[in-house]
Amino acid sequence: MAALTVPMLDFARQYAPLREEILAAVTEVCDSQRFVLGPAVESFELAAARACHAPHAIGCASGTDALWLALAAARIGPGDAVITSPFSFFATASAILRTGAQPLFADIDPITYNLSPAAVEQLLRTHQGPARIKAILPVHLYGQCADFDAFHDLKQRHGLLLIEDAAQAFGASWRGTPAGDLGDLAAFSFYPTKNLSAFGDAGLVTTSSDDLAERTSMLRAHGMRRRYYHDEIGWNSRLDSLQAAVLQVKLRYLPAWNEQRRQIARRYDDLFTAAGLATPALDKNPRAIVLPITDPRATHVFHQYVIRSAHRDALWQHLTDQGIGSEIYYPLPLHLQTSLSGLDYRKGDFPLSEQAADEVLALPIYPGLREEEQQAVVNTIQAFRL
Ligand SMILES: Cc1ncc(COP(=O)(O)O)c(C=O)c1O
Repeated sequence: MAALTVPMLDFARQYAPLREEILAAVTEVCDSQRFVLGPAVESFELAAARACHAPHAIGCASGTDALWLALAAARIGPGDAVITSPFSFFATASAILRTGAQPLFADIDPITYNLSPAAVEQLLRTHQGPARIKAILPVHLYGQCADFDAFHDLKQRHGLLLIEDAAQAFGASWRGTPAGDLGDLAAFSFYPTKNLSAFGDAGLVTTSSDDLAERTSMLRAHGMRRRYYHDEIGWNSRLDSLQAAVLQVKLRYLPAWNEQRRQIARRYDDLFTAAGLATPALDKNPRAIVLPITDPRATHVFHQYVIRSAHRDALWQHLTDQGIGSEIYYPLPLHLQTSLSGLDYRKGDFPLSEQAADEVLALPIYPGLREEEQQAVVNTIQAFRL
């Protein structure tokens, strides 16, 4: 064990100073006895829309549902294809399949780990299948926005919709435009580990289109516009008032928390560089690591601080043995998942995603993480031997 153990996450550090404020907000909902949608949800939707500079925000039950609702609202379904990244959480692809559409993968940019616009362009040039490509679904992975300059250009030239998987990126921006206002629609997750997190599952769709906002609201309530008249087959994906009340309190603190995450990331950069462990490309030194790189056009919110190592599995084991938390996001790219074998991809199809899946390791990062804890993480990596 290291002299100091460091958990991968510590929810208690965030909750302790907010306890009274959150309990007061929760009590208000309990006293109102309005538990589904209602004033608490409307109030949070307004605040979230303002934070994202998006005209509309529609709360729903999870980030997974937010992706499905965004796609379904955009009338994506059987016969359509959606281009996305194979290096993401499973829901990015499963939400596309759930609409009846086909996910088409394109490889990632090896620096940011985000969907590569060049790879998407290549796919747009060569795609031949029967499904018509209707949208691009870039993921703002680890809290850094994908290259929306390039994706906007592709949207214009090919007449496509852009849907953001912003599950990890509330508060992030691209050239000053917040995630949530970059695409035609965006999907957020408030799963408890996210930068803005609920006390359970919750999600949100944002859009600047009145039509898409109206369709999203309709679809999250079983396709009803008028009570018990079902115009389309939607789903029950309403946001709970209790979750909205918790989120509304936390939203006020989010800018400061995201700033703290950036400071913690800078401190890791400095500590790893001072320790002589940072390298621009992986080499034979087993302790050498590649640090995360932020595109100068992006404002990163460091949902994760992700390093690369040529000996990632052994390093992960070493950190675990020493009581230092770390996680692998994600060990198997989506095109190689058993449940997606019907998409007919093979190992080797997306080599940059496959290499990232073998090398990435996320280190503890959350508001309240102390400098001595970061030093313990760095010291433990420095003590790693093969
Ligand atoms: C990139 C990405 N997309 C989608 C989701 C799905 O969100 P949820 O877990 O709230 O359904 C997540 C979160 O887990 C995610 O990280």
